[in-house]
This record gives sequence, structure tokens and C-alpha cells, in this order.
Amino acid sequence: NRKPIIAIDGPAGAGKSTVAKLVAQELGLLYLDTGAMYRGIAWVVQTANVALTDDRAIAELARQADIDLRPHATDAKQLLQVFVNGVDVTTAIRSKDVTSKVSAIAAQPMVREILVSQQQALGKSGGIVMEGRDIGTHVFPDAEIKVFLTASVQERAKRRHAELVAQSMGLSNGEPVEDITVIAEAIQTRDDLDTTRTVSPLRKADDAITVDTDGRSINDVVTVIVDLYIAKV
Ligand code: C5P
Repeated sequence: NRKPIIAIDGPAGAGKSTVAKLVAQELGLLYLDTGAMYRGIAWVVQTANVALTDDRAIAELARQADIDLRPHATDAKQLLQVFVNGVDVTTAIRSKDVTSKVSAIAAQPMVREILVSQQQALGKSGGIVMEGRDIGTHVFPDAEIKVFLTASVQERAKRRHAELVAQSMGLSNGEPVEDITVIAEAIQTRDDLDTTRTVSPLRKADDAITVDTDGRSINDVVTVIVDLYIAKV
């Protein structure tokens, strides 16, 4: 019998990846970070030096891209390891440069068509936690559990800042950590692009449950979602 799909959507930096990964681990489900796929395409576009306005070239790169998301080989606590065309881009797709370009690329209808069909293929047997912007509204409108994860921009910027500081003390990617205000602006810009695009913009599905993570612990949020799943099976 087919296991349910958990769709987790929400704005940038709401904690979707952390929460989705833990929910999947706890319930023994697959986990798919669809944002990593859009980031993978943004990385290809950047590496190929293609202009963000060149829809045709971008669609072609997206069509040819071999995106491979794997559970981390050496550290299960890490998020997925991401390979694009055989290159390990796990760190590269989190760079400021890729982050600032990804929303423009994700707004292109052809890019979405290509990635959404891959996401639907990966999730069709169920038993998966899929996170992104349009999972509950578009990729799996029939998902059994839909969560809309939010937090204030200030809170999200604060968390992202702490994450970047922690990263720069460990495996640094060589980028200086920006101020919280600068990070907040970048998050706001990405939210604006993601909510106003024409094709499947970021919005809460009518039947999604909103979970506001302001002032809530990760464990708390994970438990809420795990309980929603248990109630369904
Ligand atoms: O989740 P993450 O912040 O890594 O996603 C990066 C970007 O990819 C988002 O800002 C959005 O533009 C795009 N995205 C999307 N649809 C999804 C997941 C991500 O458009 N399902």
C-alpha cells in the first residue's frame, strides 16, 4: 500500500530543509529538496555564462542537465549531496551568486515544466517528504499532508545569519558573512520574485496547514508534522 506524500512549502529560510529532512528521517520516508534542483540549474546557467534573459538557452541547459540528489555519503545529519552533470555542487549551489539568480531562473515556464515532471516522477510512489514553493499547489496537489512553513523575515534572516556564521567557522566557501539587514533584504527580494511570478507562484494551498515557526523549536515543528502524518496512516 502506498504511503502518503508530505508537501512542505514556504518562503526562503523558513527552515523547510532542516524540518523536512528530520521528518523524513523520523518516519523513514524519502526526502526531496526541490529548491536544490532549481539551484542546480542556476549553477549550470552561471557556469555556462548564459544570460538570465536567454530563456531558450536556459531551457536547453535545463533539459540536458542531469540532476542527482543523494543522501549524504558520510554524514547523515547533512542535507542532500547534490550532483549536476557529474559535478558535486553541494556547496556551490548555496553561494550568494547562485542564490541571487535562482528565482529569475525558476520563474521560467520551461525550467519549471522540466523540473516539475522530474519531481512528480520521483514522488509518484509516495512515501516522500518534498519541500519547495509549489509542491502542495502544483507538483502534488493531492498530497495527503500539506504544510505551509512560515516565519517573519527578521527571524528568517537571523537564522540564516547564524547558519552562515557557523558555516564560515567550519567548511568555509570563502565568502564573508553579511549583516542581518543585508540578508533580510535578499530574502525579501527572493520572496517577492517567488510570490509574484506568473507560473505556480509561492502561495499556501487552500488545504495546507500553516505552521509559523517564529519562537518555536525545530523539534516542536517536526513533531507537529510527524503527528499529522501518523494521523493519516
Ligand atoms: O528552497 P530554496 O531557497 O533552496 O529554493 C531556491 C529557489 O528555487 C527559490 O527561491 C525559488 O525561486 C525556487 N524554487 C521554486 N520552486 C520550488 C522550489 C524552489 O521556484 N518548488
